[in-house]
Amino acid sequence: MSRSLLYAISSYFSYLSKSNTKHGVHSPFVYELVTKVFENKQKNSACGQIHSRYKELLYNKRVVETTDFDDSTSKKKYVTKFLKVSEIARNSSVTQRYGELLYRLVDWFKPETILEVGTCLGISTLYLAKAAPAARIITMEGCAAKAELARANFEKLDVNQVEITIGRFNNTLPLVLEKMPHIDFVFIDGHHQFKPTIEYFEQILKHSHEETVLVIDDIHWSKGMEKAWAQIGHKNEVTVTIDLFRMGLVFLRKSLSKQNFVIKY
Ligand SMILES: C[S@@+](CC[C@H](N)C(=O)[O-])C[C@H]1O[C@@H](n2cnc3c(N)ncnc32)[C@H](O)[C@@H]1O
Repeated sequence: MSRSLLYAISSYFSYLSKSNTKHGVHSPFVYELVTKVFENKQKNSACGQIHSRYKELLYNKRVVETTDFDDSTSKKKYVTKFLKVSEIARNSSVTQRYGELLYRLVDWFKPETILEVGTCLGISTLYLAKAAPAARIITMEGCAAKAELARANFEKLDVNQVEITIGRFNNTLPLVLEKMPHIDFVFIDGHHQFKPTIEYFEQILKHSHEETVLVIDDIHWSKGMEKAWAQIGHKNEVTVTIDLFRMGLVFLRKSLSKQNFVIKY
């Protein structure tokens, strides 16, 4: 068994042993979120359309030249790789379950502005966009070939409110934040390492407000991501965090008592 698989299994068991169901949640805000958003199993046609598009990508054997800025095994600034669209979709896109959760979160909080860090093929962007057709959305991607594929997916599903910014996050994030000074909803899903995650979070925090909702993907991906998640939960500006294992939710509302929840999802 590989070390990373062992790590994933042990961190999942540790999450399970700490997690609560709704019955252990005493915050009315979090209880409502659990019962009305996390547990809402209602199907809708927009999510169905996105999942069908995702399944089509799983059969797409076209090879594209990708640029990877996030390869921790390489000493180079970036690595180019030739990958099938199907491989990219399978390895990097949000799962249906968590994509639908993103949809329900956006539908519940009704953000007017959304920032996504990490577009890839745009599957998660589609869930965000379909839940808030009037919202302004900026999504960020370093690899031009993936951004092109995402653009085609947006067109295919008649999503035209999304602006894609191409470039390394450390170069493009300050520029994007200038263009979007008031952010209501953020999905951070790229460059899953301790230092960049904290740096992006802190930059975004300066453009957030009390009601901003921040979602971070892969919070248990590695020791570095778990450390970043723990550090985020201790920040002064952060009141409530919710660990759902795959994703973590962060709230800044001052009306909430400071608490880090671990909820079985
Ligand atoms: C996990 S994927 C995003 C998946 C997408 N949110 C979805 O669920 O459909 C992360 C993306 O971030 C991009 N990325 C990672 N590190 C980056 C960096 N430092 N600068 C720019 N892009 C980066 C990768 O190219 C990759 O496409």
